[in-house]
Amino acid sequence: MSAVSDGAGLELPEDADVVVLGDNADVLPRLPDGTFQLVYVDPPFNTGGRRDRRTLRTTRTDDEGDRTGFGGRRYTSVETGRMGYPDSFADYAGFLAPRLEHARRLLTRSGTLYVHLDWREAHYCKVLLDEIFGRECFLNEVIWAYDYGGRPKDRWPAKHDTILVYVRERGAHLFDQDQVERIPYLAPRLVSPEKAARGKLPTDVWWHTIVPTNSREKTGYPTQKPEGVLRRVLLPSSRPGDRVLDFFAGSGTTGAVAAALGRRFVLVDESPEAVRVMRERLGSGPVYLDATGAPLPAPDAG
Ligand SMILES: C[S@@+](CC[C@H](N)C(=O)[O-])C[C@H]1O[C@@H](n2cnc3c(N)ncnc32)[C@H](O)[C@@H]1O
Repeated sequence: MSAVSDGAGLELPEDADVVVLGDNADVLPRLPDGTFQLVYVDPPFNTGGRRDRRTLRTTRTDDEGDRTGFGGRRYTSVETGRMGYPDSFADYAGFLAPRLEHARRLLTRSGTLYVHLDWREAHYCKVLLDEIFGRECFLNEVIWAYDYGGRPKDRWPAKHDTILVYVRERGAHLFDQDQVERIPYLAPRLVSPEKAARGKLPTDVWWHTIVPTNSREKTGYPTQKPEGVLRRVLLPSSRPGDRVLDFFAGSGTTGAVAAALGRRFVLVDESPEAVRVMRERLGSGPVYLDATGAPLPAPDAG
């Protein structure tokens, strides 16, 4: 299996998933047209600062400690590192536009792009994506609603993200509704027992928890998205064996879900911390490359 680049193009191995460490502005032009059935991206939201998360090691103590755990036990925590990325852009649209143009080029004719944003930039990106894809290719505005964190007193607490969905060619696009996982009716007694047992189709408003602190999927990477949200993205808009691309990959949620659903994936992130987390999460199955297509050294190779 080879993933050798000739300097211009990045050759994707037929039979392996790929994780690339590099600026997506360098990587995307190297990928061939029409390669991906689905592109999902969750870029920095332009919050105006950095998105950082401390990693802590906690040990049980008989002394005072700095944390209380289950049953009132005391723990001491030591900071073992920080993970994060810059999240401030003077010209956010100027940053995203060339990358989203590549996203369109890279989609198959039946392909779909999902762009995950929040209230800060969603509306500017809608206008930008209309320009790149054409308004007729705008499929949905999905609202992911959650209920976590503080509630400011001077406005409505912002508890949703926006996922803009565009298709490469309206009418030719894949949306297999039968693959969508059904959800329970809010008032199951108002429908027949058969309907209640089958559940209902979700709409464009998705209620889903954030990644719970002690869950199996939690990696500690800042702004990690829940696998349940990605399952909902991948199931109707791609098929087993299709290629999926995420070029703001972070902790690799898209890859983890793609692997579980039998899709092939290409993940790109410029942060060595993100690639380290992806290695831990995705294991030795994928090929790990730099932006030129050269293999990255194994983590213990220094
Ligand atoms: C919001 S996070 C993605 C989180 C991810 N969806 C997850 O579930 O873990 C955005 C990521 O984009 C990466 N990023 C920002 N600018 C980039 C660029 N120019 N090229 C590649 N990755 C970039 C950051 O390093 C960060 O990991």
